[in-house]
Amino acid sequence: MLYDKTMRAAAYIREKTAYRPQIAVILGSGLGSLGEQLQEPDYIPYADIPGFPASAVAGHAARFVFGKLEGREIAVMQGRFHYYEGLSMQEVCFPVYVLHALGVETIVITNACGGINTEFSPGDLMLIEDHINLMGVNSLIGPNDERFGLRFPDMTEVYDRALRRLTLDTAKELDIPLQQGVYALFSGPCYETAAEIRAYRAFGADAVGMSTVPEATAANYLGMHVLGISCITNMATGIAKKAHSHEAVLAAAERSGERFSRLLKEVLLRMPLL
Ligand code: HPA
Repeated sequence: MLYDKTMRAAAYIREKTAYRPQIAVILGSGLGSLGEQLQEPDYIPYADIPGFPASAVAGHAARFVFGKLEGREIAVMQGRFHYYEGLSMQEVCFPVYVLHALGVETIVITNACGGINTEFSPGDLMLIEDHINLMGVNSLIGPNDERFGLRFPDMTEVYDRALRRLTLDTAKELDIPLQQGVYALFSGPCYETAAEIRAYRAFGADAVGMSTVPEATAANYLGMHVLGISCITNMATGIAKKAHSHEAVLAAAERSGERFSRLLKEVLLRMPLL
C-alpha cells in the first residue's frame, strides 16, 4: 500500500519535471533560501502531489523545488511534515520514500533546533553526528515491505561518515564555524520543560528539536546516504534566559541563513555522485 502510494507520487513528479537528481535537501524552518538559488526551477507544491498530506506550518513554503545548482541537479524540499501536526509517522516520512523512488541516493536533512550543550551559542551550525529518539515512536513501525528495506535496519552509521568529513573540511575551508553533536528528538509542538532538558543533557544530547530523526531513520532504512545539519536558533529551556517563541526561532534561523546556505551549497557541489 505504501509502496503503491509512493510509486504514484513519484510518477506524478516525473511528469511535472524532467530533472532526475541524485541529491535532495530538506530545508528546516527559516532555512528555505537555498530553494531560491536553484537555476531553471520547477516548483511542485506538496498539495498537488497524490498521497501527500496537507500541512501549513509558518516558515515552510510546502513545495518541492527541482533545479540546478551550478549545473548539478538537486531536489529541495521547502518545508517538511511534522508528527506534531497529527500526521502518522508514515505521512511524515512519505516525501523521503518518494525521493528514493525518484532515484535520490543522498539526502541532506536540516533543521532549526535548541542548543543543550552550553559550549554552543544561538546562531551556531551543528553537524549531526548521531541522534536519540526520545519520542517513543519509531518511523518504521508498521508492516514491512521488503521492496523498501529490512525489518530490522542497522543504525550504526545513520549520518554518513564520509559526508560528515566532507562537511567539516568544507566548513573549515570556508571559515564557517561548525559544531558537532547529538540531536535529540522531542515530539513538540510545545517546547521542552527545563527538567526535560536537564534529563536530555544527562542522556548525552547536545541539541533538541522536533524533526529530522523520523526522516533520517526512514532514509537509512531505504539505504540512502544521510547528512544532517542543524541551526541552533536558541538555547533550550532552562539554559535560555527567556521564553521561546516560534517567531524568534525563525528570525534566528534567517540570521544564520547566509552562512548556512553558503556551507550547504558548497557541500552539495562537492558531494560525490554515484
Ligand atoms: N526545542 C525544540 N525544537 C526547537 C527548539 C527548541 O528549543 N528551537 C527550535 N526548534
